[in-house]
Amino acid sequence: MTEKNILCIGAGYVGGPTMAMIAAKCPQCRVTVVDIDPERIAAWNSDNLPIYEPGLDELVRVSRGKNLFFSTDIERGIRENDLIFVSVNTPTKSFGLGAGLAADLQYWEKTARQILGFSKSAKIVIEKSTLPVKTALAMERILNSGDNAIRFDVLSNPEFLAEGSAVRDLENPDRVLIGSRETEEGLRARGILADIFAQWVPRERILTSNIWSSELSKLVANAFLAQRISSINAVSALCEKTEANVVEVARAVGMDSRIGSKFMNASIGFGGSCFKKDILNLVYLCRSYGLTEVADYWEMVIRINDYQQERFIQGMLGAMFNTLAGKKIALFGFAFKADTGDTRESPAIYIARRLIEERALVVVTDPQALKNARRDLSGNEGVSYVEDPYSAAAGCHALAVMTEWGIYQALDFQRIYDSMEKPAFIFDGRNILDHRACFEIGFNVYPLGKPPLTHF
Ligand code: NAD
Ligand code: UGA
Repeated sequence: MTEKNILCIGAGYVGGPTMAMIAAKCPQCRVTVVDIDPERIAAWNSDNLPIYEPGLDELVRVSRGKNLFFSTDIERGIRENDLIFVSVNTPTKSFGLGAGLAADLQYWEKTARQILGFSKSAKIVIEKSTLPVKTALAMERILNSGDNAIRFDVLSNPEFLAEGSAVRDLENPDRVLIGSRETEEGLRARGILADIFAQWVPRERILTSNIWSSELSKLVANAFLAQRISSINAVSALCEKTEANVVEVARAVGMDSRIGSKFMNASIGFGGSCFKKDILNLVYLCRSYGLTEVADYWEMVIRINDYQQERFIQGMLGAMFNTLAGKKIALFGFAFKADTGDTRESPAIYIARRLIEERALVVVTDPQALKNARRDLSGNEGVSYVEDPYSAAAGCHALAVMTEWGIYQALDFQRIYDSMEKPAFIFDGRNILDHRACFEIGFNVYPLGKPPLTHF
């Protein structure tokens, strides 16, 4: 592969790690990541990276300053690079038409205009952000609206990494998807990008498709993953009514190789910046094409997710004698999943707010997410933030597991029990603790989708 100058606009959870991987695997490429947020760029250039991801510090250290650069100079970045990934945020629109459903494309469009404004030579522009189908068409229209004769080719290359395992996912992806126009120029651009990934990804895992299939596949992949979680969460509610055990059901069902065992863990609900946003986006798209039944079908995935979170609170209330007022409750974990400090759309936010509404006193503990938790719950009285889980639980009436951090399984629950108010309760929103052992210590234990173990 010949030398390439690569730019990524957007130094977030996707842009930073993805470009660090490309730089590490393609030493002949010069990779620059730019962002409008100077604090974020300063953090990428420091020893304290702006996001926590296992293995990321080492990955960045290998290339930073050699062939990986972080900068706020967007204009120069666009001028000097031939391949431009766009990895800006595409949150759910909060205003106007489509509010609460459609993707807010304002950051995306600004980027397209910047690329048009600053380009002096041909560019391949690569959609890395998750976008509604047909966004590439809008991108092409903006880029081709200038007076100059610069050639722009637009590709779709959605990212499938999951937070907490980003480095592993980038190094060994199930697949890399590249969508392009099926014209001579589109296929040539597609080939250039494929050659970059082929430096470390086996060719048979580099899929190519038409550009609309690629855009849609990303939304559909997230919708399918989220649907599995809502399916098992719906089953967990039925298990609680029937004395079936959701873990046993998931195991029995998942061993069918046609179904598979992944994404079958019942939980307090899925969180993260993308599942809800991308399904809402899919629902909006279906509605805008008049596909009401299809939209309703996917919308139910979100309704079950909301239901599961509220069900958890109602379970706590019921178990704790229908009042939480004045009771101290420790939330074990606040991140939306383990191995990340990210709390975007974390179910713990909803649970904490509902507990506050019930006038409980909330103690939040998390090994990585306390800073974000403080921001998410700012303005709420009666919340404290404690790093050490033992201190967090001391004096509490209950503890509720929000995030499946491995460290919680290794805690000394006898010590925790001894420090708590009695009767002491555990609500395990992730089914990660040893419920029988906790029950034998003296806790009243409420797992998800399994019969509770109580001393009453
Ligand atoms: P993020 O919010 O962490 O990062 C986006 C960055 O873009 C921010 O730092 C922001 O300052 C910057 N930005 C916005 N407008 C800009 C502009 N005009 N010029 C330069 N920088 C600009 O978002 P993220 O989590 O990295 O997600 C980015 C996209 O990737 C989204 O579409 C998301 O759906 C998708 N995605 C995310 C994940 C994930 O795990 N977070 C995984 C796959 C796909
Ligand atoms: C998800 C997808 O897995 C990625 O492929 C995708 O690229 C990404 O969204 C995105 O587009 O942003 P992520 O949200 O980072 O990745 O993390 P997941 O591992 O998918 O977990 C999402 C949520 O589902 C978490 O709250 C997790 O705890 C929950 N979950 C997951 C369950 O409740 N049960 C499960 O069995 C699995």
